[in-house]
Amino acid sequence: MQVIKKIGDLRVILGEYRKSGKRIGLVPTMGYFHEGHLSLIDAIRERVDIVVVSLFVNPAQFGPDEDLECYPRDFEQDEQMAKERGVDIIFYPDKDEIYPDPFFTYVATEDLSKVLCGTSRPIHFRGVTTIVAKLFNIVQPDIAVFGRKDAQQAIIIRKMVEDLNFPVEVVIAPIVRESDGLAMSSRNTYLSPKERKQAPIIYQSLKKAVEMVQRGEPDAGGVKHSIRQQIETAPLARIEYIEIVRERDLKPVKVIEPGTFVAVAVFFGKTRLIDNVVLK
Ligand code: PAJ
Repeated sequence: MQVIKKIGDLRVILGEYRKSGKRIGLVPTMGYFHEGHLSLIDAIRERVDIVVVSLFVNPAQFGPDEDLECYPRDFEQDEQMAKERGVDIIFYPDKDEIYPDPFFTYVATEDLSKVLCGTSRPIHFRGVTTIVAKLFNIVQPDIAVFGRKDAQQAIIIRKMVEDLNFPVEVVIAPIVRESDGLAMSSRNTYLSPKERKQAPIIYQSLKKAVEMVQRGEPDAGGVKHSIRQQIETAPLARIEYIEIVRERDLKPVKVIEPGTFVAVAVFFGKTRLIDNVVLK
């Protein structure tokens, strides 16, 4: 496995692979790997010849009051885990390599990035689409994989690829959870023991929502109310949003129709957790 820090070096290496007909897969990450990240590597491994993992904590997607400085980092551990999982190249650039000073050009998916998490994080998705567009231009992968854990992110990236004609196949891999149902996240390490104990209420409430819909409940308001009530049984939980939206445009629905999912953001202390499940 090679660790590459410079765009020029990466282009030379990947150019050679491409010339010899190799297919290239990209797994964009911000590091501090857990099984969720590793599952993305597994999802793409069989489909390409060369697996590139990018590891870059992207300043452009953090708001001024967010956790950029204290975002968890452990490059040596990540390197070890990636190696064991069969990654070929880690692209691990410095900030200056990615963002020349001054930097003026951003990619935005407009309306899709203003709802759900975009309401409280107004510049977040612009930062995500900009870095992913840059990574697509730098790596020129045949396939790139994203996790369903960040459903809005995955939907926005798929739309960006469609709208801007990136020649990249986007694969969306299922959510990997802890044994008690909590969706794996690098941010789970921020939770205190008490918060960690209560956090699985999020997925429990979402599973009940799926059951309600399977039993025939058509009313989105009723399902949201049930989720809210359950999450509120956890004294340390503070709900940011519970929304039932359409997959294709993230618009809220009143009646649960095929292609809708429920997405939630819940604070435990200062830690903001997100989760989602498909309802129909
Ligand atoms: P990061 O949070 O490091 O996540 C990298 C990828 O892992 C994302 O596609 C995310 O959805 C996926 N992932 C995280 N937890 C997961 C889980 N429990 N199950 C399945 N997949 C999971 O998301 C980002 O980084 C950044 O926004 C990035 C796309 C790299 C752009 O900077």
